Amino acid sequence: KGQIFQSAALLLGGASVFCGYETYQGNEKFYSNILMPTVHALFGPEMAHNLAIKALSYGVVPKKQKQEFDRLPCKVFGLEFSNPVGIAAGFDKHVEAVGGLNKLGFGFVEVGSITPLPQDGNDKPRVFRLPKDKAVINRYGFNSCGHQDAVTRLSKNISGETILGVNLGKNKESLDATKDYTEGVLKLGTYADYIVINVSSPNTPGLRSLQGRDKLKNLCTAVVAAKNQLPNKPPILVKIAPDLTDHDKVDIAHVVVQSKVDGLIVSNTSIARPESLESSNKTERGGLSGEPVREMSTKLVADMYKLTHGNSGATNLIELLMEAKVTENVLFVGKVPIVGVGGIWNGKDAYEKIRAGASLVQIYTSLIYEGPPVVNKIKRELNELLEINGFSNVSDAIGVDHK
Ligand SMILES: Cc1cc2nc3c(=O)[nH]c(=O)nc-3n(C[C@H](O)[C@H](O)[C@H](O)COP(=O)(O)O)c2cc1C
Repeated sequence: KGQIFQSAALLLGGASVFCGYETYQGNEKFYSNILMPTVHALFGPEMAHNLAIKALSYGVVPKKQKQEFDRLPCKVFGLEFSNPVGIAAGFDKHVEAVGGLNKLGFGFVEVGSITPLPQDGNDKPRVFRLPKDKAVINRYGFNSCGHQDAVTRLSKNISGETILGVNLGKNKESLDATKDYTEGVLKLGTYADYIVINVSSPNTPGLRSLQGRDKLKNLCTAVVAAKNQLPNKPPILVKIAPDLTDHDKVDIAHVVVQSKVDGLIVSNTSIARPESLESSNKTERGGLSGEPVREMSTKLVADMYKLTHGNSGATNLIELLMEAKVTENVLFVGKVPIVGVGGIWNGKDAYEKIRAGASLVQIYTSLIYEGPPVVNKIKRELNELLEINGFSNVSDAIGVDHK
């Protein structure tokens, strides 16, 4: 009996040492095949998310995650990025883990969405894993610490080591969206390298209607005027949904260029539920992210690139432009940089978005399933693909599918 106990203890001890070692080393396969599935079996999605934020807030990350690659440094919005892979909004909603995320090797960190007043968001449960589909559905509904709390952390927490985006939302009960966003620009803008106007979350009633032409025009004009009052004048990006009609796309391109918005983030989560979904959670309400939105978002990156960079290949969209009485000249002088996000799992996915027109990319759902080593994996594979295809820098591959 004693011997069996001893052997079991040895085995358990050995396994713990092995797991501890692999966790510390940041072994990609160990994380995606063993550690993350175990975490998912033990904790619900929101609990796992909170634990990850806690660990990152203490700077607890696997070893040697911050590796840089020769083809990845790039300049976008006048900012120097060490690499083009960022963490998307919604992960560090309350500005708690910026330093830890920087240590994971992200080229930029976007915090938020942050609303003016603190609010709880929707009732729990409000995040669901769809493991068979490599996807997530969330209906957090902007649980936010509010501007004041964010300012406190932004002002003391930020090391200046990373490029920091601040993503702004509106309060659920607010009747004046423009006021919510302009307040955000004025209060948080001085701490931000760029600001995101999120008008595409599906979980705040009426929010996505702000993507309509007239409302968007008023909003963008006010927001750009507000940022021009700031000493640092951070670039303004508008984040859009993947579920837009061709008319919506044309309207957005038009407004963005005319109101001098600096960039687009393409895209947020989707309200669509593709036939292919297999997981039992597929019927949950909320925004779908991960692999099932990859193609939708890449297509939207391509469409928005064509609309804002002047490409004659976009025949159907150009016709719509003409119908909307928008001259090509008005639109195409803009050359609005695009941040591509949605379902990026590896270097190839990132490379596709860049070829479609993205200057930078972001991830969220792949981090949930693969854990921290996914960041380095994407960077390494992207660097390899650029080398194989004869690009000396990632910037040279932007939009090449259209050339
Ligand atoms: C749990 C969760 C919460 C999110 N919260 C926000 C948010 O607060 N603001 C925002 O702009 N996007 C939010 N997003 C959208 C992501 O930033 C991203 O646009 C989307 O998930 C697509 O990327 P992915 O497929 O790599 O996850 C959230 C996504 C997830 C999965």
